[in-house]
Amino acid sequence: MKRIQLFEFEDFDWFPNWLRTCMTNLIIILSKMIGVAEVLAGLVTKTLKEQNQSQIVDLGSGSGGVMPEVLKMVQKTPGLENASMLLTDLYPNPIFIRKFNKSTTDAIEYSKVPIDATDISKAPTGLKTMINSFHHMPPEAAKSILDSAQKNNEPLLIYEMAENKMPLLIWWLLLPFSLVILIIMVLFMTPFVRPLTWKQLVFTYLLPIIPICYAWDGQASLPRMYSFKDIDQLLEGLGSTAYGWEKGYARKKNGKAMGTFIVGFPKS
Ligand SMILES: C[S@@+](CC[C@H](N)C(=O)[O-])C[C@H]1O[C@@H](n2cnc3c(N)ncnc32)[C@H](O)[C@@H]1O
Repeated sequence: MKRIQLFEFEDFDWFPNWLRTCMTNLIIILSKMIGVAEVLAGLVTKTLKEQNQSQIVDLGSGSGGVMPEVLKMVQKTPGLENASMLLTDLYPNPIFIRKFNKSTTDAIEYSKVPIDATDISKAPTGLKTMINSFHHMPPEAAKSILDSAQKNNEPLLIYEMAENKMPLLIWWLLLPFSLVILIIMVLFMTPFVRPLTWKQLVFTYLLPIIPICYAWDGQASLPRMYSFKDIDQLLEGLGSTAYGWEKGYARKKNGKAMGTFIVGFPKS
């Protein structure tokens, strides 16, 4: 496999949740800047319509990422005005449960019950989505997720906003420059974070823990992504007359690639 198992700070149990949230805030800003939410909304809308579904069950949601924004865009599509979303995680965070379950009118709920993406039978029906989290799964877990979607005959949409196409040696050689660029980007993106907390400011501009961790995780996630060939390997033995798989580039309206997707879908 081209993918390698590097560490990311946000995967460690000991990594403080508030720090993880500060990093996710930056990913949301970046996603908005480069148009990830629009691309993802297009993919989700298309899959919901094809599968005749109106409920999205997001797996490995963490803090929700761009999915609340995506739901608002999906709801603008005729026929999907009543689309709803259930955010789930193997380790549901009480802060996000409180945040998303506060309002009963936004059609978003955060599951208090842990949902393991490797066992989709326990998740409510609906289009399962996995956004920017598939690369966190080691190959065995990644294969179980795909296997579980097919076994349970549930549609699954996996999206990653970047691609693992750079030769590993070049990645290592460019690493010092890439880290510096990302750290500088954080300094410019931080003022756009909402809500902008004192922790986000202090640990960016006074004690730059957030830029350093964000830069490392951002760079480390690239060689952790499954390449298209790796995905073929994970999908070996899957696919049947009743259940199909597709993979490819997600595209912006101008045709430019913006991340990659895998879709698993019941054919009937
Ligand atoms: C990168 S984070 C969240 C990414 C999020 N979807 C976003 O767009 O910001 C990955 C999440 O996957 C969760 N996770 C790890 N293993 C899991 C599993 N087997 N099933 C469900 N969630 C899992 C972690 O707890 C973590 O919150």
